[in-house]
Parts: sequence; structure tokens; C-alpha cells
Amino acid sequence: MAILLHVHSILRWVILLLSIIVIFKSYTGYSQKKLFRAEDNKASLLLMISCHIMLLIGLMQYLIGPNGMQLFSTNPASIVMKTKELRFFAVEHILVNIIGIAFITIGRIASKKAISDYSKHKKLFIYTLIGLILILSRIPWPGMAGVGRGWF
Ligand code: HEM
Repeated sequence: MAILLHVHSILRWVILLLSIIVIFKSYTGYSQKKLFRAEDNKASLLLMISCHIMLLIGLMQYLIGPNGMQLFSTNPASIVMKTKELRFFAVEHILVNIIGIAFITIGRIASKKAISDYSKHKKLFIYTLIGLILILSRIPWPGMAGVGRGWF
């Protein structure tokens, strides 16, 4: 569905912006030994909610759209895996982004469980940074050979 794809595409910017906010706040939080405040918790909550909405929309596209599971029914699996353009959406985009979202989610849980404010900030920083790097690596950016899409 075109509208779902559009929401999925726009939501990338929300996730990128919130990740940068969480990474910046948690880095300054632990390096300057700041208190872990309600606003720090709210930023990480908003990021996790956005990621989970992204995951749901992505799963729907993967199940019903032309660039998900269908790639395996229209091509032999060996061809999908050998062809960069097919493998990107059939395997890499979903797999790496799910792992990235898992890092962001685990980071929030670990940060909530941590006792000291220092440790809350540090856990959030490390996990969110890894999550963001993974997500950034598998976005179909404009200009990416064979898989690139629009900016919005
Ligand atoms: C934070 C994580 C993610 C980001 C930033 C992201 C970003 C994007 C972007 C920018 C597109 C291109 C949209 C367009 O053509 O305008 C796309 C397509 C797609 N994404 Fe994601 N995505 C993420 C996670 C996921 C996940 C977890 C799944 C599956 C579970 C998924 C499934 C798909 C599919 C199937 C398409 C292709 C849709 C089509 O062309 O029919 N995405 N994604």
C-alpha cells in the first residue's frame, strides 16, 4: 500500500532525529555525570515507540508488498541471495533493521534496570549508537545502486 510505504519512509527521519537526541543526551549525561531526568526517559520512550511502529509497518509491507516475501515466490531463493538488488529488500533491510531496533529496545530496558544515573545514561548511549549505525547502514538511500529510493 502506497500510504504505508510513505509513512514508513517519513518515519525514518523521526527515528534518525530521536536517535541523535538520545545519543547526544545520554553521552553528555554519562560523560558529565548528569542526573537521569524524566525528559531523558521520554526521549528514549518516543524512540522505542517510533521503532516499533516502523517494525509493524515494515512487517506488513514485507508480507503483502512486492519487495518483501514475494521476491522469494517470483524468483528462486538462490537467485535472490545472489542478486544484490533482490537480496537487499528480501533479506538485508529487514534483518539488519530488526537487529538495530532490538539494540534500541534492549538499551532502553537495560537503562531502566540500571541503578545509577551514570549507568542508565551509558547503557542507553552504547546500545542506541549501535542500533543507529545498523539502521543507517541498511536504509535504501537515494543513489544506492539498484535499491536507492527517495529522501521522503
Ligand atoms: C528503523 C528501521 C527502518 C528504516 C529506517 C526503514 C526505512 C525504509 C525506507 C526509507 C524504505 C523506502 C521507502 C520508499 O520506497 O519510499 C523502506 C522500504 C521497505 N522497508 Fe523499511 N525501514 C526500516 C525497518 C524495516 C523493517 C523492520 C522492515 C520489515 C520488517 C522493513 C520493510 C521494508 C520493506 C518491505 C520495504 C520495501 C517496500 C516496497 O517497496 O514495497 N523496514 N524502508
